[in-house]
Amino acid sequence: MAFPKQVRLVEVGPRDGLQNESTPIATDTKLELIDRLGAAGIRYIEAASFVSPKWVPQMADHREVMTGLKRRDCVTYAALTPNLKGLEAALECGVEEVAVFGAASEAFSQKNINCSVAESLARFEPVLERAREAGVRVRGYVSCVLGCPYEGEIAPAKVAEVSKALYDMGCYEVSLGDTIGTGTPLTAKRMLEAVSRDVPMEKLAAHFHDTYGQAIANLYAVLEEGIAVVDSSVAGLGGCPYAKGASGNVASEDVVYLLNGLGIETGIDLDALAATGTWITQTIGRPNRSKVGVALAAK
Ligand code: HMG
Ligand code: MG
Repeated sequence: MAFPKQVRLVEVGPRDGLQNESTPIATDTKLELIDRLGAAGIRYIEAASFVSPKWVPQMADHREVMTGLKRRDCVTYAALTPNLKGLEAALECGVEEVAVFGAASEAFSQKNINCSVAESLARFEPVLERAREAGVRVRGYVSCVLGCPYEGEIAPAKVAEVSKALYDMGCYEVSLGDTIGTGTPLTAKRMLEAVSRDVPMEKLAAHFHDTYGQAIANLYAVLEEGIAVVDSSVAGLGGCPYAKGASGNVASEDVVYLLNGLGIETGIDLDALAATGTWITQTIGRPNRSKVGVALAAK
């Protein structure tokens, strides 16, 4: 299969990138990050997470973030909503799109959202129903698609089952998360092969973490299979609070550099994106995990 002509980037830095930071980050810093990402040409930004502040303290200012945004017409600002409580709060803040997040691993589901996979799916049903009523689109995540920190290997058939359940429930897109970054191009392709038998390829997104340095190789492999939506995080920020050892998401700058090299359009200004990566890592005192970002900053 040929590469897609265009790829849509889903920037998860303000949410997935920052959620794991133990030192509180000022709401204004988050707002400036979101604004800079929009100015760099990112068209979809996951801005906040309406989860319990006891579980993920860094996302406790979700209301302030969602209502403080300097909105750009061309940008979709989304938020995670694990249940109806989260969705209602997000709707009050004028969210345009939300995401529910499940897992292909029972143990991870319990650690992350305190319920089984089946219970999580049942919990998402009313979220989708209420979102539909409110005219808000819902994205679905499946975590641990290429391995689980508690269970180890995950069967592609299990990933397909959960992905199909989310899609059938009404998620317009299902993002496949290699939460702990243990996948390789071959396992990524096999998993995608299984999932795309049940969910159309154009409804799937790749959400890869770079813990083992495989994220760009894995992306290349799934782009070749027809994936045209990629989740990434500026400067490779990130990690999951309930996946020990999960390092950052694949860096947005590295993804854009790869896509530029393949002649795939993104509409993103790589220099502005890299400058944003430099700025946020310096501001919060974290290493810049984007090789492209570091190389461009050194020029
Ligand atoms: P629970 O304790 O089972 O929920 O948590 P509960 O319904 O029993 O409520 C307990 C308390 O939480 C109550 O407060 C509720 O009001 C409150 P209390 O009475 O104790 O003061 N509560 C909430 N507060 C704010 N917003 C809400 C909310 N819901 C309940 N929406 C729950 C269940 C899902 C809430 C909890 O487990 C949770 O918040 N988990 C979030 C975990 C998380 O955010 N993980 C990171 C994101 S997932 C990820 O990173 C993976 C991904 O990137 C893909 C990949 O990389 O693979 C998406
Ligand atoms: Mg993630």
